[in-house]
Amino acid sequence: MEMFMLLSALLCIQTAVSSPISTAAQAQGFLERYGYLHKENESHSTAEVKSAIREFQWLSQLPVTGGLDRVTLEKMRSPRCGVQDAGSHNAWGQRASSIFIGQHLRKKRYTQTGEKWHKRHLTYRIMNWPRNLSPSQVNVAVKTAFQLWSNVSGLIFQELQHGPADIRLAFFEGEHNDGTGNAFDGPGGALAHAFFPFRGEAHFDMSERWTLSSLKGHNLFLVTAHEIGHTLGLVHSPVRHALMSPYYKKMGSNSLLSWDDITAVQQLYGKPAGDSVQHLTGRALRWAMRDWQISQDPKGGSLTPHYCQGFFDAVTMDVNGTVLVFQGHHFWTVSNGRVSDALPLQMRWPQLSSAIEAAAFSPLDSKLYFFKGRRVWRYSGSVLDPGFPMKSHDLGLPNHPECAFFYQPLGRMVIFRGSQYYVLNPESLSVEPYYPRALQDWKGLPRGLNGALTRPGGKLYFFKDQQYWRFDPGKLRITATGRWTKRLLWIGCHTPTSLQGNDIL
Ligand SMILES: *[C@@H]1O[C@H](CO)[C@@H](O)[C@H](O)[C@H]1NC(C)=O
Ligand SMILES: *[C@@H]1O[C@H](CO)[C@@H](O)[C@H](O)[C@H]1NC(C)=O
Ligand SMILES: *[C@@H]1O[C@H](CO)[C@@H](O)[C@H](O)[C@H]1NC(C)=O
Ligand SMILES: [Zn+2]
Repeated sequence: MEMFMLLSALLCIQTAVSSPISTAAQAQGFLERYGYLHKENESHSTAEVKSAIREFQWLSQLPVTGGLDRVTLEKMRSPRCGVQDAGSHNAWGQRASSIFIGQHLRKKRYTQTGEKWHKRHLTYRIMNWPRNLSPSQVNVAVKTAFQLWSNVSGLIFQELQHGPADIRLAFFEGEHNDGTGNAFDGPGGALAHAFFPFRGEAHFDMSERWTLSSLKGHNLFLVTAHEIGHTLGLVHSPVRHALMSPYYKKMGSNSLLSWDDITAVQQLYGKPAGDSVQHLTGRALRWAMRDWQISQDPKGGSLTPHYCQGFFDAVTMDVNGTVLVFQGHHFWTVSNGRVSDALPLQMRWPQLSSAIEAAAFSPLDSKLYFFKGRRVWRYSGSVLDPGFPMKSHDLGLPNHPECAFFYQPLGRMVIFRGSQYYVLNPESLSVEPYYPRALQDWKGLPRGLNGALTRPGGKLYFFKDQQYWRFDPGKLRITATGRWTKRLLWIGCHTPTSLQGNDIL
């Protein structure tokens, strides 16, 4: 299979690396496919093969033995990007070959081809859009992907809506005049491929399920960022955490670009003006992606709101029995089974921080409490109470609480954190004596809950990931559990039609 799949690190797991590699012949096929051995030669001398294996081992950070040992075969089997790592003879033509030929091998870095644009100001244009993301979501993802590179180099990118552009991004299905070897193969397998300068094209498989979620699907931002690297002249990097690494890696919390990506692009295009290298971390990006997803697509591309995909920051219920669900910069209201669109958090609660960790409504004072990091906010309606946000510490509370709820039997606020829970007196704003106590008091509840609330009638509901637990304060035990998106109609994850004929739990 002669596919040039440029997958982001995250996506390479989808790549169909042909049959498992266990024989020398299969290993040779692998070496040919990824450019370590020249294909046009029917047979290769032992020395050629050994040298190719060495090159592969070096690039893959394995002991350079020249033999097909266990770790080498394992590495060949592992999920990876389908684009060639090496070799001068590939369908792209523009490929810089000198780096990989013979003994020059170790003298140069790998992450550049030698071909580069001879200008710093490049234009790009998105030619068409995938089906399951809105154009504005795609625009912001692509813009951010370009920014990732321009923030660390002397490059400046400008988006064009019309006319010729230096770099063109397009979605195609199947064969698209790149040669049969470059035909896309439907969902999975090849996701995208790109060309080195100066062709300036990146192609994406239209039949993939493109998303901007960090949790599932093929992340368009990461694939695009990897592709752009190729269009700028970067080849695969031997550095494991590099964005340009051919191997599958998870998006961590750290920088998306490694020193290797940055050095490579700076060798071609210099440092950014002002010399201040700005780059985004995976953690910051995950937040950004949640918001792209939500703001452009309040219902997450389906009939249910975005949080129904399995995570929210906090949940509570206000004086009128309206359920409030919080996620990132947004919140939703659910009342009588009807869920609102995603609403900006600061619109309703000015000065509140985004991505809160816990929220609870106290019927004692009709106030809404929010917790995040080291601070507590308290609102009367939409008005932040004087003196807030307060330091959690000053109330005797821990930082980063997991969930908070009003507990009717005590007439107090309960806050969970780790293996302990705290009981807060909302009137005195202090933790009651003898607390914190061990979470074991709440038999059967797990640690690390996402949220909790009290429903009319006094039953408590606790949430963690997709699971909920119903706690009966009368019996002091859990009386139900299950998947909240399916079982709890009042959480707003049922489509309007499925509501009919069901009781609201
Ligand atoms: C093909 O094999 C011949 C003879 O072994 C060798 O001289 C030549 O360099 C090889 N061609 C390539 C492209 O490796
Ligand atoms: C680029 O830098 C700016 C600050 O100069 C920052 O706000 C932005 O998040 C950075 N973008 C990326 C993708 O790193
Ligand atoms: C609760 O309902 C009352 C009257 O029905 C309304 O005035 C008030 O705004 C509602 N409060 C909230 C927080 O929605
Ligand atoms: Zn690649």
